[in-house]
Amino acid sequence: MDTSAKRNLSAALISRAAPELTVVLPTYNERDNLPVVIEALREALQGLSWEVIVVDDDSPDGTGEAARALAERDTRIRVIRRIGRRGLSGACLEGFLASSSRFVAVMDADLQHDEALLPRMLEVMRSGEADLVVASRKVEGGDVGLGLSAIRKAGSSLANSLAKRILKVDLSDPMSGFFMVRRESIDELAPRLSNQGFKVLLDIVASGKGTLRIRELPFVFRQRRHGESKLDTLVTFDYLGLLLSKYLGDLVSIRFLMFCLVGASGLLVHLAALRAAMLGLALDFLPAQIVATFVAMTSNFLLNNWLTYRDRRLKGPAMLWGLLTFYLVCSVGVVANLGVANLIYGNQPVWWLAGTAGALMGAMWNYTASSILTWRKV
Ligand code: GDD
Ligand code: MN
Repeated sequence: MDTSAKRNLSAALISRAAPELTVVLPTYNERDNLPVVIEALREALQGLSWEVIVVDDDSPDGTGEAARALAERDTRIRVIRRIGRRGLSGACLEGFLASSSRFVAVMDADLQHDEALLPRMLEVMRSGEADLVVASRKVEGGDVGLGLSAIRKAGSSLANSLAKRILKVDLSDPMSGFFMVRRESIDELAPRLSNQGFKVLLDIVASGKGTLRIRELPFVFRQRRHGESKLDTLVTFDYLGLLLSKYLGDLVSIRFLMFCLVGASGLLVHLAALRAAMLGLALDFLPAQIVATFVAMTSNFLLNNWLTYRDRRLKGPAMLWGLLTFYLVCSVGVVANLGVANLIYGNQPVWWLAGTAGALMGAMWNYTASSILTWRKV
């Protein structure tokens, strides 16, 4: 055999078709959990054709290195390291899209989800009865167990009923982070899915607009092994943003909605500060208005930094520089607002129409400009 024939032969021996199932493990600071989860998966998926894709957002605790060490010893394990990006939804989506399997699943990398359910989920998918199998903590036989705090439990059930009412998503556990779906469906829906937030299942179902056939299987939510939950109370706002943005038919992004929400709160802050400056500091209207404007801009900056741009949050000196650029952006925003309002009012003297158009113009300018100048992607 000549060398090229040898090479072809060994290539044929080495090349392997994609596995049937990809399990995506999004990770942020899960160094100690990851090896245990992977071992549990090896056990649970015996006899199946599978791979794991760990999507790590450059965890400071060294999860990435731990994942690569595991991948070095087992080609069924792959790692995606994302730099300068944060977010569960985006990580899941990226993992799904990097897979060539027929079926993709996602689960927490902290042992909260019962990996033993995966073969049964796969069976349902194979049977063709469903396009999406959700491991639910709420159907008969499932339980949130001790895995959630009382506050999270209450929030979770409120969120469920909102999803049912607003999005007409009929799932017993739309917040579940454990499900399996056809890779094809993801390709179809991907352009409509949000990268922000953590509600990837709800997003998939809502974006599918009733086309996905869903099956739910019960499981008991376990307590996380090491480390702590990455989902704080702020995720509730993400969730409300997702509901609103889906309800409005994807016309506006979640981020823009949050920005407007913060802007609306700024108006209240402005009025309160104006009153305080006039009564408490005994200032005349104009200086009081100036003080109130700065107070409102600062409060908007802080809220946006805390909420709207939590994934790109500015800290330390960068925060001061961010505040200054935000003032700058807002002052141009005022000019844009006044210009548009004046133009419209000149043509059609309807105060609320001109006023709203001006405010929207200002908000759009502030949003676009601050996303470039203040919270630019690194
Ligand atoms: N790559 C990446 N980036 N992974 C992340 C990020 C992130 O920004 N945030 C969290 N993760 C990973 C965690 O490391 C974990 O493996 C998984 O995503 C879920 O995060 P947890 O911190 O364990 O969330 P939880 O247990 O509080 O919330 C669970 O229950 C929710 C419903 O109550 C999750 O299953 C959620 O998906 C679920 O919605
Ligand atoms: Mn978890």
